[in-house]
Amino acid sequence: MSKTLENKSILLVISGGIAAYKSLELIRLIRKAGGNVRCILTKGGAQFITPLSVSSLSENETYTDLFSLKDETGMGHIRLSREADLIVVAPASANMIAKLANGIADDLASTALLAANKQILLAPAMNHMMWQNPATRENISRLLNRNFQIVGPVEGEMACGEFGLGRMSEPEEILSAIQKALSPPGRGLGEGEEIDSDFNTFAKRLRYARKSKNLSQEDLAKKLEVTQQAIEKVENGQIIKPKFLYEAAKVLGVSYEWLWEGTATPPHPSPLPKGERELEGLTAIVTSGPTFEPIDPVRFIGNRSSGKQGHAIAQALAESGAAVTLISGPVKENPPAGVKLIEIETAAEMLAAVEKNLPADIFIGAAAVSDWSAAPSAQKIKKQPGKTPALNLRENADILKTVANRKKRPGLVIGFAAETENLLENAKAKLKSKNCDWIIANNVSENLFGGDENQVYLITQSSADKWEKQGKRAIAQKLAAKIGEHFTNVRTIKEAAE
Ligand SMILES: Cc1cc2nc3c(=O)[nH]c(=O)nc-3n(C[C@H](O)[C@H](O)[C@H](O)COP(=O)(O)O)c2cc1C
Repeated sequence: MSKTLENKSILLVISGGIAAYKSLELIRLIRKAGGNVRCILTKGGAQFITPLSVSSLSENETYTDLFSLKDETGMGHIRLSREADLIVVAPASANMIAKLANGIADDLASTALLAANKQILLAPAMNHMMWQNPATRENISRLLNRNFQIVGPVEGEMACGEFGLGRMSEPEEILSAIQKALSPPGRGLGEGEEIDSDFNTFAKRLRYARKSKNLSQEDLAKKLEVTQQAIEKVENGQIIKPKFLYEAAKVLGVSYEWLWEGTATPPHPSPLPKGERELEGLTAIVTSGPTFEPIDPVRFIGNRSSGKQGHAIAQALAESGAAVTLISGPVKENPPAGVKLIEIETAAEMLAAVEKNLPADIFIGAAAVSDWSAAPSAQKIKKQPGKTPALNLRENADILKTVANRKKRPGLVIGFAAETENLLENAKAKLKSKNCDWIIANNVSENLFGGDENQVYLITQSSADKWEKQGKRAIAQKLAAKIGEHFTNVRTIKEAAE
């Protein structure tokens, strides 16, 4: 390994998470790259690894106590950050992130971090629900706005056996973020240099997307109304500016998720600060997933809807500032952060929940609502030789049509048309017959149920737009942006008329 961290000093804060054991490997890697590493181990961290193993690997004393006389004669908590070139918190526990976001200094680690005068790189690690919790989301947003750098977390199996986004990045990945953070200006990719095929950082992906559009840094700077120096810094991985990347994604025609981390899972709910989100002040109801219509106490009529698209839409609307109620049939999807979730089973329950939550400005019927229900038998239907039971199906109420034809209907009613043939014709006919404003039409003959991608048309009274095949999350965000444009136009027309 080349000595990329020669003469560099890292202050590593290890907080209390199961991933603390990986920090031992990180210490080894920093040492191998020639860097000096001093460690602060929180009380929580010391439950997972010992000061002895940290000291053995770092070849330095391990600091644990704020009120230690020996360390504090030289104001240890101040000195530790002054003598470092970069501060890394790995693992960064939810608790430590919350303390940092709120300026709490109640132990050596948080006090040293508050007193720091150096760039701080966080490697969060926690259970996926902790990571998704609106409190953590808000804390992370705040820290990003204060120019903290963040590496990970990544998706994977958790120590608790659950699966999701929250695993700490691997030590090699954190090392590479450290190297990048410590690179002097201009030491990133050179203009003429080949771009790595793995695009493993947002900086490389930004450069790649810009070059694919044949834009110079100066061109992009003009479009984004920022300085060329700012673009250079982001492309060199020296600074992370989520809001900037969000705007760049729009200009470069790539998805924000891809630009941010090459995945379909954004690291935090909204890169836009409150007050600047397109749908702020609007209310939305989104239906998602299948409905289950009971036949008897154990059987039901269902369908293959996974709820992925509907849930992604609810999340995207919430990220854009709308107050969202998500009414969902039985799905495996996690509830999106910041959304009011109502779980139902049958079409009748879904309609009742929709009615209860109206009025709203936006209604999106993404659920695959069963057209029929059976009069359920109170007892399990017994198999009888030679006899096939009749189901006696009756038609369910049409939720989309009901909402679109209400007296006080939402300002924008959007339906979904999952078709297997004559996609456009059927979707346009549905738009008319249901009296809705837009239809998202997709061809389900290609077995898109449950998949992560979708290819849809956005059909309005006057147009049919084909959207390229893309992630369901990207579709949801594009739809949220379209809805934002729609309401801006409505407001402009209203203002002009007044
Ligand atoms: C077995 C176990 C594993 C834990 N793993 C994590 C974790 O991965 N991430 C996290 O944020 N908290 C985790 N916690 C909770 C933290 O240890 C706890 O919030 C503690 O107060 C963190 O203190 P610190 O931030 O000062 O280190 C875990 C707790 C236990 C008992």
